[in-house]
Amino acid sequence: MANSAPIGVFDSGVGGLSVLREIHAQLPHEALLYVADSGHVPYGEKSAEFIRERSQRIAEFLLGQGAKALVLACNTATVAAVADLRERYPDLPIVGMEPAVKPAAAATRSGVVGVLATTGTLKSARFAALLDRFASDVRVVTQPCPGLVECVEAGDLDSPSVRQLLQGYVAPLLAAGCDTLILGCTHYPFLRPLLRELVPADVALIDTGAAVARQLQRLLEQDDALAAQPTSHPAQFWSSGAPAQLEQILPLLWGSSAVVRALPE
Ligand code: DGL
Repeated sequence: MANSAPIGVFDSGVGGLSVLREIHAQLPHEALLYVADSGHVPYGEKSAEFIRERSQRIAEFLLGQGAKALVLACNTATVAAVADLRERYPDLPIVGMEPAVKPAAAATRSGVVGVLATTGTLKSARFAALLDRFASDVRVVTQPCPGLVECVEAGDLDSPSVRQLLQGYVAPLLAAGCDTLILGCTHYPFLRPLLRELVPADVALIDTGAAVARQLQRLLEQDDALAAQPTSHPAQFWSSGAPAQLEQILPLLWGSSAVVRALPE
């Protein structure tokens, strides 16, 4: 596989763009492919089996486009599908993501950590194992957030209705004494400015986008697979939903416009 080959990144929708931004900032020479499975968003309330099947199909597509590595820029897809993908592609660098329980447990002073994530992530065995491993000394309060992903998908980052929804999710965590909130879904970093308005200034907000980009860099370094030259290809985008909708939202969430193609069935 050539070092100039692209990195394939996917999510249930636009949330993974928060991770794509971190990857681009950390590894600006790399060519990037992004698939938004917006035809099937949200993943948060779907079965693990359905998400595994979607992840498998998207991985096949990205590998067909020549991807040298895969990033599951989605916590929900990671709990459902990363083990299966690693088994299928044992030689491929694959990076998944999980809620930042370890850094949050290290950072909290009150000893109470809140996790905002999808229902699928919070009820998974993988998340339970993460708590067993890293959160034995702290209290963790979890909060599923149905509806938030749909707001971000629609480009609604600060309307009165998203503010009210988010306020309702954050209030019980603050009441429980959380001084550290984990953004355990890749859509939520786009709501960070709004969250900052809703929580006291000394409450820390933690997500894992930058850590994922660093882990990707480590894996590519290990394989001597980092791009040697700056890519001449801008990031390429596909959507299983309406390409025009992703095109419209890219300037807001990715920072520049691009053509979006329909993901082949
Ligand atoms: N962005 C995803 C995550 O990180 C999933 C959102 C969804 O489709 O429910 O969990």
